[in-house]
Amino acid sequence: MGRATVGCLVSLVMASGVAWSGEPNFDEARVGTYTLPDPIAGPDGAAAKSVEAWRAVARPHQLAVLEENVFGRRLTSAPVAVVGAVERADVMLPGDVRARRLQARLRLGTGDAAPITEVLLFLPHDGREPVPVLLGLNFLGNQAEYPDPGIWLPPSWLPNDEAAGIDQHLATEASRGWLAHRWPVPAMLKRGYGMATAYCGDVFPDRPPERDAAAAQPSADAPGAMAAWAWQLSRILDWLVTLPEVRKDAVAVVGFSRLGKAALWAGAGDERFAAVVSMESGCGGAALSRRDYGESIAAITSRFPHWFCPRFASFAGREADLPCDQHCLLALVAPRPLYVASAVEDRWSDPRGEFLACVAAEPAWRLHGLEGIATSDAPPTDTPVGRTVGYHVRAGRHELLAYDWQRCADFLDRALLGRMPPTADDHGAFHPLQAPLPVQPPAGAVVLVEADGGVAGGAGEGSGADRPAFVSMGGGAIDWKVRDGGLEVEASGRRSNHVVSTVTFRDADIHAEFATSPEASGNSGLYLHGLYELQIFDSVASRPPQMQDEGALYRFAPPLVNAALPTGAWQVYDVRFIAPRRDAAGAITRPGHLTAWLNGKLVQDAIEFAEPRSPYTPYKHGVTDFMRGVEKRILETGAGPLVLQDHGSRVRFRNVWIRPLDGAAVSP
Ligand code: GCU
Repeated sequence: MGRATVGCLVSLVMASGVAWSGEPNFDEARVGTYTLPDPIAGPDGAAAKSVEAWRAVARPHQLAVLEENVFGRRLTSAPVAVVGAVERADVMLPGDVRARRLQARLRLGTGDAAPITEVLLFLPHDGREPVPVLLGLNFLGNQAEYPDPGIWLPPSWLPNDEAAGIDQHLATEASRGWLAHRWPVPAMLKRGYGMATAYCGDVFPDRPPERDAAAAQPSADAPGAMAAWAWQLSRILDWLVTLPEVRKDAVAVVGFSRLGKAALWAGAGDERFAAVVSMESGCGGAALSRRDYGESIAAITSRFPHWFCPRFASFAGREADLPCDQHCLLALVAPRPLYVASAVEDRWSDPRGEFLACVAAEPAWRLHGLEGIATSDAPPTDTPVGRTVGYHVRAGRHELLAYDWQRCADFLDRALLGRMPPTADDHGAFHPLQAPLPVQPPAGAVVLVEADGGVAGGAGEGSGADRPAFVSMGGGAIDWKVRDGGLEVEASGRRSNHVVSTVTFRDADIHAEFATSPEASGNSGLYLHGLYELQIFDSVASRPPQMQDEGALYRFAPPLVNAALPTGAWQVYDVRFIAPRRDAAGAITRPGHLTAWLNGKLVQDAIEFAEPRSPYTPYKHGVTDFMRGVEKRILETGAGPLVLQDHGSRVRFRNVWIRPLDGAAVSP
């Protein structure tokens, strides 16, 4: 380590924060009324009447007000030098995405005290370069963002995180890919975007003592972590725009949570960022401070005194005296595209306050003849709005999910790149409920295994209306039994005593709860159409997880993260399966894709697949005439069964259901 950080460089010390003991308000009725300052006003309080006046007077004024009262002085630019060589490697990502991985150490400034940041950049490598790039900082080091053993482990101080496998404040092998569910590289590359990231702590470790580095009396507008992180983002941009593979006019700055606040501040101050994206940035980010809802200035400045300038804390409890509010920050992005994402359950970030800030920032876009968010009605959940300023509030809690990135890319496709987003066939958001178990089946679901392990329609042989939920590989009665609250695999020596659902489906959401058993490493699987296997396997300790581990789409993609639980614990898979489409001759005309969640973590993100690759499918290994018939019907109709796999281990299943997404499902 031994690197200087910007925290030291700016000699940052802050007055101790306001002790905060208040209860946050989560009651909309108690928000009260407030008046917002004009986001396009100059020092005389009058709104700019022309783009020229805004640019010459109002914009610099608004920036200065935010510097003085919220973020502190902006740090001055510094020369950026690559230390050593830029590493370029061609890599194949899950879903057969050809990519180029770049890594560079950048010295930000001159002299020994200059901080060094390591930048990781994935680019689509399919002849589309130069490409637009989404740049964002990360919380736990580049290695945690993606499970690629070639990613450098940072030497910087990291916050300890037991679950992520980080102790001693240093990156570990175990932490590789821990946050990959927040950074869907293959999916974004497939959409033509490059993905760049760096660890925020390279320049300003996220810890309050950072403020104790020097003087006891910092100036009221002394910069904090947000200013340092915004500066880091601009310096990385200095380097990105030198790369032939990167479209200089299409680098968007993106950030989640505290790093969303930093992204907004970076984008506001540095107009080279072609678009700005805030994901659940909340207080001090996209949410209005004057709305007394969720996190308050008192709360944030007492818990994170090192993030903002000291003066910000002085507005705790007297928000009406602030000469700005967070809509003024958003307005500084104009006329460029701005996207703001919230989550319904993230009340701490005040989703409504984030939406209302977009509405209140609109004059800045209108001044430019653009429409801004163009509505003052908060949209329903999972329904993005706005073309120049976009916004969505998705179902779920404070997280950064594939859904957020996909909707952000839809927005940027139009607003930044002037192209239509691909037609979505993912049937809206997919972030299923995975707790508490057993999960209640939704409307329209066909239950195959009940919550107590009982089998719908019984386990006996039958036909017509009596037909049970599953038949054996021979098409007869299954011999699996209900034990300990689950339908237990009757393990066979040949490992081919699978059970085959009698319901067939084409595109569907599939939910399955299961518990592994120690023999044969708890091996089993969900065979979708009997062709594509989502692995069930005892693999808690496998880091980074491999192709045979739980969460893998066997022979296509290892899981993004290890989300496996120990032997015997009830676990849960939710899968969105979009089947391949075939022509009359049976050739695939459009690959299938699937997204899968395992125990609350995204393990497969829109992974593409075409012809099956496993030699063990029930149409090869242990095949019967009955299964040959099933395979033939898949080729003819595109619809197939769910097969629960016998792989020599007495794995148990319960609460297994299928929710067809199209009209191609067939019930016996
Ligand atoms: C805390 C903090 C938020 C911040 C978040 C995060 O919840 O109060 O302001 O956005 O951490 O960065 O995860």
